[in-house]
Amino acid sequence: MRTVLVTGGTGNLGKAICRSFIQQGDSVIATYAHNREGALALKDELGERLSIVKLDILKEESIIELFSTLGKLDVLVNNSGLFTVSDQQSLEVSDWTRVFDTNVKGLFLVTRSALPLLKQSASGSIINIASINAIHPGFGQTAHYDASKGAVVAYTKSLAAEVAPIRVNAVAPGLLDAPYLSDKDNPIRTMFENRALLKRMVKVEEVASCVSFLSEARAITGEVVVVDCGYLVG
Ligand SMILES: NC(=O)c1ccc[n+]([C@@H]2O[C@H](COP(=O)([O-])OP(=O)(O)OC[C@H]3O[C@@H](n4cnc5c(N)ncnc54)[C@H](OP(=O)(O)O)[C@@H]3O)[C@@H](O)[C@H]2O)c1
Repeated sequence: MRTVLVTGGTGNLGKAICRSFIQQGDSVIATYAHNREGALALKDELGERLSIVKLDILKEESIIELFSTLGKLDVLVNNSGLFTVSDQQSLEVSDWTRVFDTNVKGLFLVTRSALPLLKQSASGSIINIASINAIHPGFGQTAHYDASKGAVVAYTKSLAAEVAPIRVNAVAPGLLDAPYLSDKDNPIRTMFENRALLKRMVKVEEVASCVSFLSEARAITGEVVVVDCGYLVG
């Protein structure tokens, strides 16, 4: 049975990723930063093969402490992320730093601590959650977020070259279906659906199955897989 760690495992996409690995028979550690209620609900739903752990990926000591308690790790999914909207002229440095710290520095801190255990695994693999915004201009007023996800893509490729045979890949989702987008007239939803070839948003389960696929795709490393319902080519 593989051991999988999913950061932000109680978020919208994180939950779907945890469900997918549990369905495949893996043992999953889902970390959460604030959403304890969501973590407990997920534990109730997924049962004994799911462990929930509170972890702020910006707290280096907590990360080191968590990894010192793990005997084994086969797959790391760096899913935690922070999205904010602001035009760049009025973006506060603190907001820039918060987004970059969460999306890039936190991902590095977790990855660094995970590498010794992943090296011991026969199938060590890292999957980073990027975004199509890393490849294509965002939906407006997100240059700081887009740049942070661009850094995730570059980090993924360089790390893959450095740590092989541990495989390192990224998934770049398009707009994810989420409760806050349930209004059909939401302008972001409308803009995405109009351009996407499939005329709909991306389901979190579809990204989760791509993450699961990459965790088992023994010949794929250093790649970024876009899951966007054809938005980029639309
Ligand atoms: N939503 C989209 O359309 C979309 C599109 C492309 C890519 N993505 C990426 O997909 C990933 C998941 O996003 P989502 O849409 O599922 O958003 P979400 O529901 O807001 O989930 C974000 C997760 O990140 C965690 N997190 C935030 N700050 C953290 C920190 N300092 N330490 C540890 N965990 C932290 C949150 O934990 P708590 O809730 O416990 O604070 C939450 O579980 C992100 O990397 C995001 O950038 C999203």
